[in-house]
Amino acid sequence: MDAILIRGGGPLRGKIQVSGAKNAALPILCATLLSDGASRLRNVPALRDIETTAALLRFLGRDVTVTAPEVHVAGGSDVRPEAPYELVKQMRASVLVLGPLVARFGRAKVSLPGGCQIGARPIDQHLKGLEALGCSIRLERGYVIAEGPENGGRLRGSEVYFDIPTVTGTENLMMAAALAKGRTTLVNAAREPEVEELGRVLNKMGAEVDGAGTDVIHVKGSERGKLVPFDHAIIPDRIEAGTYMVAAAIAEGSDVVLEGAQVSDLEALIVKMRAAGVEVTSEGQCLRVCRRGPLRAVNVTTAPHPGFPTDMQAQFLVLMCLARGESVITETIFENRFQHVPELQRMGAAIALRGRTAVVQGVEALNGASVMATDLRASASLVIAGLVASGETEVRRVYHIDRGYERIVEKLSGVGARIERVRGAEA
Ligand code: EPZ
Repeated sequence: MDAILIRGGGPLRGKIQVSGAKNAALPILCATLLSDGASRLRNVPALRDIETTAALLRFLGRDVTVTAPEVHVAGGSDVRPEAPYELVKQMRASVLVLGPLVARFGRAKVSLPGGCQIGARPIDQHLKGLEALGCSIRLERGYVIAEGPENGGRLRGSEVYFDIPTVTGTENLMMAAALAKGRTTLVNAAREPEVEELGRVLNKMGAEVDGAGTDVIHVKGSERGKLVPFDHAIIPDRIEAGTYMVAAAIAEGSDVVLEGAQVSDLEALIVKMRAAGVEVTSEGQCLRVCRRGPLRAVNVTTAPHPGFPTDMQAQFLVLMCLARGESVITETIFENRFQHVPELQRMGAAIALRGRTAVVQGVEALNGASVMATDLRASASLVIAGLVASGETEVRRVYHIDRGYERIVEKLSGVGARIERVRGAEA
């Protein structure tokens, strides 16, 4: 297994191009199941999760060509609506084929994703929503078996009240509703930019989606029960951009421009970075991050969009490890998303964990160490810590990083980081 080796040191300077958004590309790839014909996605990042989704679509019977940053998906109605455990266990987001399959083919058999490192992550809201659209749902030997009304008939538009704003739950129901008869209203829906992006694509396919990006979404399913393929360029990845903003801010004297970052998607993070004493300015399609003085401690509580993103919690916590004073980081979305903390403590960070809260006491410096990545965003936080730690940091299990960061070593060394990937470093 590969590892990433970082020699901590000076400020970062230069430009980083932000890639397309992983969490927008995944649902949109699954939306290709809603129509026959050939769809094209552009600005798609070269990531393991994209390859896993492509493998799943091929298993379902689609013809998929991945030549990043483009993905072509083609095929007709000869689809086997079954997503096996072997594929779903690799990536929870595979559950996003459930809505499109049952809406398009009247039935679907999809492996339950099971728990993950950061929490139990049930899909009860997805299933409740599909039942509201007329599906019968049963769980059998670790699989969800969903069937349209009257033995696999067309879904019916309806009202769905989410007990909790769920991103992929909202996306699954938007896709199912796009082929349902009549209108569907999704209340307490997730408002993430990736949900809004899916709404744009479903409108290109012939559905009528209103309100994506707000907590009430209206979907009028295609009259003819048919949707058309699409050609679409994916929005930039706000979490990748946010990760590099923090990487830039961690070392005094840094001055980094993020090309293609969408400012409006990063407001909650920008507010907290400025409160910490980091200069963040937007220049056209770019964001500029400069660090000219000491960091101030800032409290953060994660929340659904437009609140502070949970996917930036680990990275921002590292920044607070080097701030003057005490900061309190509260994780409200996932029950087990502090696994980066013991690794940061091994690098000399002063953090006390109390349930879903981390109390961070700023220290003068971190020291390099061998550390273990546990999940995608935790691994990004360890790389950021390694950029300023004294000596060498070795981040192991980097396959977590490959899931969500395109060419992270090249991008960081391009702005002056001393970072390299060591092939087969770990037995
Ligand atoms: C999406 O996951 C993202 N993944 C996650 O990003 C992100 O952390 C998360 O949203 C929150 O922003 C993708 O978009 C592919 P949720 P998702 O359903 O949809 C509970 C990354 O690092 N819940 O919004 O799975 C759930 O347990 C990944 O890129 C239920 O209880 O998250 C959690 O506590 C990690 N029942 C909360 O809601 C349900 O049916 C929010 O989860 C669904 C969710």
